[in-house]
Amino acid sequence: MMRIEGKMGCTKVRIDPAKLPQHIAIIMDGNGRWARRKFLTRIKGHEKGIDAVRNIVEACREMGIAYLTLYAFSVENWRRPASEVNALMRLLKNYLLKERDNLIKNEIRLQAIGDLDRLPVEVKETLFQVIEETKKGDKMTLILALSYGARWEIIKAALRMAHDLNTGIIQEKEVTPDLFSGYLTTSPYPDPDLLIRTSGELRLSNFLLWQLAYTELYITPTLWPDFTKDELFKAIEDYQKRERRFGMTSDQISGLHAKS
Ligand code: IPE
Ligand code: IPE
Ligand code: MG
Repeated sequence: MMRIEGKMGCTKVRIDPAKLPQHIAIIMDGNGRWARRKFLTRIKGHEKGIDAVRNIVEACREMGIAYLTLYAFSVENWRRPASEVNALMRLLKNYLLKERDNLIKNEIRLQAIGDLDRLPVEVKETLFQVIEETKKGDKMTLILALSYGARWEIIKAALRMAHDLNTGIIQEKEVTPDLFSGYLTTSPYPDPDLLIRTSGELRLSNFLLWQLAYTELYITPTLWPDFTKDELFKAIEDYQKRERRFGMTSDQISGLHAKS
């Protein structure tokens, strides 16, 4: 069987291409600390973080990951100093303009989730333009979570479902977790199989609270600008060693594998 091999120091990393996660979600954290350690401004940390984004998108595309969701800006991040928010918006727009040709060439479809109306108009326009230009990409879907908050998303979904209940489009007895998932902004995508958070924080920070119910978590102390392709391979290797039981017993899971 073909294996993807990377290196972590002297240790070889082995990935089984037959057991890749279909959807990886990443909380890209630690740009500020990375900059502080180097006596640089936080903005320099965010700039360096974009290089890591490029590498990781490229690695996922090369490996054949179908969906990659990147938490780029939370709804709570609007509370940061205006100078930092403005710099992040400028970097986001530049990233989109710089990457569009690459995304088209590599047949990567760009999507976005979050309260996009809060984005500055020129960022929103660029975003929608690149989403449109890349819509035929069928090798990978790159989903940017921008001005995203899971609680906000769940409330919006609940309101839409309540509307459909009130108007008789759906009946109460039809309401299931699957049906509710269909009202979320993530409805076109499967739930993430693997969540990576860099910089060691042990929290979800309002990211995909509903969708992460059965996702495998991988937290690394590495700061986002230092997160390399090999670090990603290591996370996937770790994921592949786990047994996803979804509430069943280990014997049941082995039985299922034996049948398939
Ligand atoms: C993540 O890095 C980037 C965004 C949240 C936009 P941070 O800016 O949160 O970095 P730290 O947590 O201060 O190190
Ligand atoms: C989460 O990181 C949001 C993004 C990575 C975009 P934060 O750095 O904002 O998270 P908290 O505030 O420390 O939980
Ligand atoms: Mg942070």
